[in-house]
Amino acid sequence: MPTSRPTPAVVQNILETIGQTPMVQLHRTVEGIPGKVLAKVEYFNPGHSTKDRMALKMVEDAEKAGLLKPGGTIIECTSGNTGMGLALAAVVKGYRLICTLSDKQSKEKMDVLRALGAEIYVCPTNVSPEHPDSYYSVAKRLNAEIPNSYFPNQYDNLSNRTAHYESTGPEIWEQTEGKITHFIVGVGTGGTISGVAKYLKEKNPKIQIWGVDSFGSVFKKYHETGVFDESEIYGYITEGIGEDILPKNVDFGLIDRFEKVTDRDGALVARELARKEGLLLGYSCGSALQGLRQLKHLLPDDAVTVVLFHDHGSRYVGKIYNDDWMRERGFLKEDSGNLAQAVSMNIHLPLVMVQPEEPLMNAVVAMKRHSISQLPVHNGSVFVGSLTESHIIRALSEEGLGMDTLVKHVMGKPFPILSGHSSLQEGIQALSMDHNALLVELSAGKHHILSRHDLLTRIA
Ligand SMILES: Cc1ncc(COP(=O)(O)O)c(C=O)c1O
Repeated sequence: MPTSRPTPAVVQNILETIGQTPMVQLHRTVEGIPGKVLAKVEYFNPGHSTKDRMALKMVEDAEKAGLLKPGGTIIECTSGNTGMGLALAAVVKGYRLICTLSDKQSKEKMDVLRALGAEIYVCPTNVSPEHPDSYYSVAKRLNAEIPNSYFPNQYDNLSNRTAHYESTGPEIWEQTEGKITHFIVGVGTGGTISGVAKYLKEKNPKIQIWGVDSFGSVFKKYHETGVFDESEIYGYITEGIGEDILPKNVDFGLIDRFEKVTDRDGALVARELARKEGLLLGYSCGSALQGLRQLKHLLPDDAVTVVLFHDHGSRYVGKIYNDDWMRERGFLKEDSGNLAQAVSMNIHLPLVMVQPEEPLMNAVVAMKRHSISQLPVHNGSVFVGSLTESHIIRALSEEGLGMDTLVKHVMGKPFPILSGHSSLQEGIQALSMDHNALLVELSAGKHHILSRHDLLTRIA
């Protein structure tokens, strides 16, 4: 019987149970990963996620600053978990709560928020943050319309990362007795990673901080190149991680590396954690462990890695824990393969590219020689654009340009880059965003191209 832990004392209200979550060593899902892997299991918070910590902190800081007054209304855009933390704070402290959510969030999350008395506005996912219907814009509008209301804005409100600096970071340091060498976690608003990183790096600057990002998000490229690349953005399914904006809570200087994980891998690994470790976790937790698996070659044998698991799996029972949902998206292992397999039929052919400073004539000659209709444009280090037959025809006919025009004046946005582990479904989703082809990353820096035609042939 597990009787050795001290029995917790009686507390005055549910908010006092936030924090002091357990750390559980992983065994059966970390085979082949050097050192020890410890999971900080944040679903032990009363709202079942780590976001309780920052939700309470944002409310308390707003009260102190006079921004939130008795009888006031809290309005927040949230992927659900922050809403839960805010709902607990609102109930205990007597505030009204309105949450705006994007329509990709699970129904379970919305039902739970309603159960705690929150009012919900469901907004479309596939619109830009500036669009009046986006969940950011709707929250802002309601804040302007409703008197005595407060919009915490978890993305840019630095109380978010301070909460993790003050509680999550110290807990991790103490629980590992200062032995932690690596910390890995999914990144959305950036509050968790930045707050924990600041605390841990103050204690020991050598600790490596790794952020898990999703394909379709801007973080990784921005971190590596300083470029906010809109062509990286497209719809994806994983909830809570990745962004199409740069929230102020992400302190890029404290993060040593970002790793992207596919929707499919995140879902499969979350299922594995449930069955092999008895941890019923949220979607992004699978992504976090998969991120670590992808980076395991960077770990020394004596590594002590902490992976933070954000939330509980009960909110995803209709999604990643539902076989039909998984099958519909081509995520189950028995399904038809991934992009690496799809590209393998062309792998014997060269990846033909053109440079931005070359004349169109070179591109046309290359297309003719290899019987292809599109080319990635590469400047020697990164993909900077794409060139298709339509671009060339438009330049020659409508714009009256000549074949000596440089590619850079005619090219379109770069093709989306997806991991070879991505499913065919994810490939189709990326192509539907107006691209003729996509690039499949087979290993670090090694890419191949997959055209619309290749992908359709594969699924037919
Ligand atoms: C399920 C889940 N995973 C990961 C994150 C990312 O955490 P953070 O916003 O602190 O970067 C969130 C944030 O909302 C989340 O809800």
